[in-house]
This record gives sequence, C-alpha cells and structure tokens, in this order.
Amino acid sequence: MHFSHFFNNNYFNFEFLQDVYVPFSGTLESTVTKKTFSAFLAERLEQAERTVLISCPPNINEKKFYKYLSHYGTINNYFFYETFGAYAVVEFSGTEDIAALKESTCIPRLQHECAVPFKSRLFNLRKNNVGELSTAQSSVQCLKLSAIPHSELLRKISGAETIDQQLHTVCEEYQLTEENTRLRFLVCSLVKDIAAAYFPECSIKPFGSSVNNFGKMGCDLDMFLDLDGISGRNNVKPTGAFSVEYHTKRVASERVATQSILSVIGECIDQFAPGCVGIQKILNARCPLVRFSHQPSGFQCDLTANNRIAMRSTELLYIYADIDPRVRALVFSIRCWARVHGITSSIPGAWITNFSLTMMVLFFLQRRKSPIIQTLDQLRDLAGPKDKLAIGGHDCTFVTDVSKLKPSQNRETLEQLLQEFFEYYGSFPFKGMSINIRKGREQNKPEVSPLHIQNPFEQSLNVSKNVNQTQLDKFVKAARESAWILQQEGMNHSTTKSEHWGLATLLIPSTQVSEGKGRKKRREPASERIKHLLESLKRTNRQVKM
Ligand code: GTP
Ligand code: MG
Repeated sequence: MHFSHFFNNNYFNFEFLQDVYVPFSGTLESTVTKKTFSAFLAERLEQAERTVLISCPPNINEKKFYKYLSHYGTINNYFFYETFGAYAVVEFSGTEDIAALKESTCIPRLQHECAVPFKSRLFNLRKNNVGELSTAQSSVQCLKLSAIPHSELLRKISGAETIDQQLHTVCEEYQLTEENTRLRFLVCSLVKDIAAAYFPECSIKPFGSSVNNFGKMGCDLDMFLDLDGISGRNNVKPTGAFSVEYHTKRVASERVATQSILSVIGECIDQFAPGCVGIQKILNARCPLVRFSHQPSGFQCDLTANNRIAMRSTELLYIYADIDPRVRALVFSIRCWARVHGITSSIPGAWITNFSLTMMVLFFLQRRKSPIIQTLDQLRDLAGPKDKLAIGGHDCTFVTDVSKLKPSQNRETLEQLLQEFFEYYGSFPFKGMSINIRKGREQNKPEVSPLHIQNPFEQSLNVSKNVNQTQLDKFVKAARESAWILQQEGMNHSTTKSEHWGLATLLIPSTQVSEGKGRKKRREPASERIKHLLESLKRTNRQVKM
C-alpha cells in the first residue's frame, strides 16, 4: 500500500491499545443547533465511525504527529485532551484511512502478560526516536474534560453584571463542549465495534444528558444498543410465492432477550474492550443495563437495549431546549443549585433525579401566564406525518422540527423566572397534585408517592417514584429559602455587592455558609415562616404597584 514505507521508519509506531490509565477533566463552547435530533445523531454517529482515539507519549510534537497520521489519509479534525495522560481524537475523512492505519499497527508483545488480540480503534502511539521529539515548547495543548471547579464558577458568576447574565454563565460554563460531544459519540462507536461482532447491523446511540442539550461536563454516558435494524421493525412486505424468515432461538419475553443480549455483550466488553473496566451487569433492574467505566475518556457508561422510550424522552428534551434560550439557562442553574444543596446526588437513592428536576422546570415554564414552552399535547398537535411514533402502544408523537414552533411572547427575565420558580415550588400543593408536562396543568395525584411527575409517554408511570418525603421536604425548604434570599438580594442589589451576589449566594455550599465565608451570616427563618413572609412581601409589592 502507498503508506507502507511508514511501517518501520521515523518517529512513531502504533500498537493497539490493550490497557490504559484513569480519568479526567474540559473546555468551552458548544452551541445548541437547530438540526433535528435524528439528523444530529446520524451526522455525529457517522463522524464517530471515521474517528480514532490515540494514547500519546508525553511532550508530543503536534506538527510531527499530524504529518505522521496524514500519511494514512486526510485528517478532517483532531484535538488532544488530558486525563492521566494525553489522548488525541482524530477524525479522518473516510473509514478506509482507519483501515490503512490498522494495517500498519501491531499487537504489542508483552513480557509477562499476553495481549488479547482485539483490534479496536483505540491505539497507543510510541515514539521511535525519543531525543528528536521531546521539545517542550512545541508540545500540544490538551483540553480538560471536566466542569470548572465550583469556586471558579462562583467567581465567574459573581463578576457578571446581572442575574440574567449569571444564569447564562452557568449554562456556558457547564454545557458539553464540541470536543466532549465528539468523544461521547466516539466511545459509543468503539463499544459498537464490540457489539457488532454479534450483531453487525446494530448501532449504539448516546441518549440522556449526553445529547439532550442539558448535559453538564462530566455527566454519565447513557448508551442505547439499537437492534431495530435487525429485529425486523424495518422489514419490507414479502412478495411472490414464498417468504423466508430467520430460524431463531425463542425466549419468553422481550425483556429476557434484552437481558441475554446485554449479558453477552457485557461479557465481551469485560473480556475484549480495551479501556473498559469495572463492568457490572445490572440485568434485573426495571431497565436492564451494563455499567462500566471507559478509562481513556473517564466516562461512566450505562449501556441499555430496547429502551426506545428513553431515546424519545431525550429527543423531547432536545426540542424543549431549542425552543427558547431561557430553558437551558434555567435548567442548568437549577440543576447546579440542587446539587449544591444536596437535593440531587450522583448516588442512586431517594433523591430527586436531574431528569425529574428538568421536568419540574419545564412544567413551571409551561405554567407561566404567557407560557415560554408548549405542552407536549400542543407539540403532538403540530406533528407532521413523519413525526408520528408509537412505542409499545404509547403515543410518542410530537413535532421534531423546532422551526415549526412559534417563539414565545413571554418577555420575563431569567431573574424573574428564577425567583418565581422558587416561589412556585415553595408553595406547590405536592400533597394532592401531580406535575404533568403533557397537559401543562397540575392534576390530581393518582397515587400516594410524595412527588408525582407523570411520565410523558408511559402515562401511568411516575418518573419520581423513588423520591421520599424527606427529600421532597428538603427541596421545598431550599426553594423557600432561596426565594427569600433572592427577594432580599433584589432589594439590596446595587448597594451590597459582597464577594458573592445574586445567583452566587444561592450556590454557596452550606458548609461554607456555616463557616461564614461568602455571604453574610443571617438568621435563617424556618421554611414555613419564609413562606408566609414571602406571601406578605408579594402582597405589599402588589399594593405599591397599584
Ligand atoms: P444526568 O445523567 O443526571 O446528567 O441526566 P440524564 O438526563 O442523563 O439522566 P439519567 O442518566 O438518569 O437517565 C438517562 C435518560 O433516561 C434520561 O434523560 C431520560 O430520557 C431517561 N430517564 C431517566 N429516568 C427516567 C424515568 O424515570 N422515566 C423515563 N421515562 N425516562 C427516564
Ligand atoms: Mg445520564
């Protein structure tokens, strides 16, 4: 082949990566696009197929790196990031370039161990001529993959001029960057190579916060093993005298099939997939999954199959995020606030999840006098023929092209919305009412769970069934206190700009407050008292305006 002269020569040689280090850290910028979700997914999945991940030696020279790899094909894009070592993500213009690179790559010979000869797209780049390459001045710039530290975020938002700017800053600082998104799709594509050994037509798609426009740097990577291309959902009608079907093994239910597929693929990931460690098969969960850590990216991965409703919920959030820029700014800020106050947690349990919290923000935005976003029923009514979808008998139809939606007439500022969000949920009748984004109205609770948020597609389910009374009370109390603090801040806004102000005062971890750092110590009235104080303040404000 034309690049064969590269095998023995110069600066580098490649070997398939068999074992790697640990996680991770990020950068800025990533914008919400107006592409439909399916166009976005298709484009990114295809791009990921043409991309490789390379573990690089220290102080690598970028020019030489680029020149070396360019011999295998045209490089469309590349970047370096740092975890516990430098990695390069390199997008070639075609998959044949990767085939060429693979052809010149060797399986390493190890002294005391044996390498499992699985040829993935995760490579180790080795220097052949150490002296020539170790020039610190010309070494590459590595991106970080994690969110900025909380203290840095507080400093940035305290430097903003308005509370509106503060909320936008949280969103900009926390959102997934372009590079982080690329890496997420690449990891899905690498796992697909394993699953494709059994199911060549399968695809692995990211879902959840990695792609719903609400992802924070460092969030987990939810993956969906899509076997629809195989299982016959897309089959054409037979013609002629005969039709042929595959002779298959039969199992009791779709759930059993999903469990056995995930079990086998989980095993393969464990045994063969370089960089994937800590594999846990959680097959008896309501939604069976395989959990593992992808070390080179640091992503915590959850692989599920037969989970099309979650994929559709992801698309719904993607649409809502695109309707109005205030949606993302408020969701990111509320998620950040909830995390600081221990309302959400990375550990599964009785906490409110980010998904439930997002539903609460969406519902609040639907409930404004002049709504900022449409109800799900309104989105369904605007759907075209291509948007129609039923999954397991559930109506999952909604408009998928945001450009078909009229922008909201609501002109409320984010400062107003933040204040009102806390007041709204500080006095929400959780005891008797349920939150329902399909109807955009409170409804009588059909069951006794402390918090009831109707699943938008499987309408008999409660997405916050896990939440107990203690956790709900914690949320209500924190909402009331924050409403109270914002009211006070609003009044003293221009005069008492202390180290942290506005949104920042709500994002100071409670340990710091008790130590007296940041915001001034104040006697915090009990939650019920705040509620009444807020109500009387609102009454006074109304009288003054009249
Ligand atoms: P983070 O991972 O916390 O950043 O947010 P996430 O939105 O990714 O949440 P999570 O990883 O818990 O779940 C992934 C996706 O599964 C969500 O975005 C939803 O689409 C879906 N999902 C999660 N929990 C539920 C639930 O209780 N009901 C339904 N219908 N879907 C859920
Ligand atoms: Mg997730």
